[in-house]
Amino acid sequence: MTLIPELTILQDADKEQVDLPRTLEDELAVGKKRLYIESYGCQMNFADSEIVAAVMRNAGFATTSSAEEADVIFLNTCAIRDNAEQKVRHRLKHLTGLKRQKPELLVGMLGCMAERLKTKLLEEEKVVDIVAGPDAYRDIPKLVEEAESGQKAVNVFLSREETYADISPIRLNSNGVTAFVSIMRGCDNMCSFCVVPFTRGRERSRDPYSIVREAQDLFNRGYREVTLLGQNVDSYKWQERSDGSAEGMQSGVQDNAVFTPNAQTPLPSAPTTFANLLEMVARIHPDLRVRFSTSHPKDITDDVLHTMARYDNICNYIHLPAQSGNSRVLRLMNRTYDRPWYVGKIDRIREILGEDCGISTDMISGFCTETEEEHQESLSLMDYVRYDYAYMFAYSERPGTLAAKKYADDIPEDVKKRRLNEIIAKQLEHSAKRNQRHIGQVQRVLIEGPSKRSDDFLCGRNDQNKMVVFPRGDHQKGQYVHVLVTECTSATLRGEVI
Ligand code: SAH
Ligand code: SF4
Ligand code: F3S
Repeated sequence: MTLIPELTILQDADKEQVDLPRTLEDELAVGKKRLYIESYGCQMNFADSEIVAAVMRNAGFATTSSAEEADVIFLNTCAIRDNAEQKVRHRLKHLTGLKRQKPELLVGMLGCMAERLKTKLLEEEKVVDIVAGPDAYRDIPKLVEEAESGQKAVNVFLSREETYADISPIRLNSNGVTAFVSIMRGCDNMCSFCVVPFTRGRERSRDPYSIVREAQDLFNRGYREVTLLGQNVDSYKWQERSDGSAEGMQSGVQDNAVFTPNAQTPLPSAPTTFANLLEMVARIHPDLRVRFSTSHPKDITDDVLHTMARYDNICNYIHLPAQSGNSRVLRLMNRTYDRPWYVGKIDRIREILGEDCGISTDMISGFCTETEEEHQESLSLMDYVRYDYAYMFAYSERPGTLAAKKYADDIPEDVKKRRLNEIIAKQLEHSAKRNQRHIGQVQRVLIEGPSKRSDDFLCGRNDQNKMVVFPRGDHQKGQYVHVLVTECTSATLRGEVI
């Protein structure tokens, strides 16, 4: 991955890349106004762009893969680290040139950076006409109209209810085989380093029936894998109320507990948990693979692990970000678990799902006051777990977060970088070793399309989310094949279909 220098261990579902939308319907949409969307940041942002495309299509816009031919350009932005924002600012400079040639072009900033900076963005970046936060996407056509009439348009209102449950996303740049499905929005966790609770608002869960409908519809259209998305999927909770209505409960938020049973009202049925939801989606069809991200170590339950064990089509892979291997640092990070708790969760995963279950993490180097010994504990945790993948970052202070308010960002940049490099080197070693385990094994692979390097090869992922490359033969995307793994790198497995 080239866009984020510190992110070196790759998955094909890279967290940060640029999306180039192109759908068949849009290719055929002659005479319509055209929208170009570029997405940055996490998978949830990419999923949101597909909601925005649907809202805009209703308003008469087709999507285009060319910024030059667009009437409206949206950047769906990320604010997680300073360099994520710098990348967008750089892109805006390029768009300023484009707008000079085409003054009627409208530029909109969506997503987390828009939410974080609000109207300040309009002051700082003259090229921007529209600012819309993550919960304001239904309002976008109105904002575009306002901007068309020459006014700057802003909506950064954060909602407690919005889940866009009823909007069918338009799949952008899709391989037709794998898709993201958002199951919740926001985050209530308040990790001290993290800007997400401020940019995405309170946690809320989406109606499970709308999730199952979306996944079923994808399956009917030939998709064979869905990834259920949320910042903290294990706190998914949906409560059906006795009056037939329902609501996504916010975990740990008392003021949202609307239902109070009394003698006259029958008790509501038990809430739908993430384990229940996983099962509902897994039961759509054995050929529909189910993945999910992200699991929080404080919330993942045995119930989820047992559900994974029961269904072959729920992939044997868990992204369980540790952030640090030291209990004091974890406490400062407000992660609400310590090292022994995290290790206990890893042991449970191995007990219930076996040694082969893929596990990945996120690690932060150089968090406020982290000592050399504490950094060593991150490395020793990695040695204990032997992760299959990791996303690794140097700590970047974010304005307004608890850490920015309470702790000095006191680890020098060169020390953060050196610690990060040690973490990366460790992970490369482990990824290679974990991949070598598969040599000589037969893996079930869902074909996603041609490999990046050559059309003579196809690629797809195995159960543990590892990319497998093999000669094309007469196989096609969307099929499952059995591949005998013969060689590997730290990023990819290679083999032949048997
Ligand atoms: N909800 C997920 C994380 C989403 S953000 C979870 O709790 O695991 C993705 C990752 O970005 C985080 O796991 C963390 O490793 C990293 N990150 C977040 N804020 C950061 C910051 N201020 N500096 C460096 N990395 C950060
Ligand atoms: Fe950020 Fe923590 Fe929420 Fe993840 S769980 S999004 S790291 S606040
Ligand atoms: Fe970035 Fe927002 Fe996702 S800050 S990582 S786009 S939730």
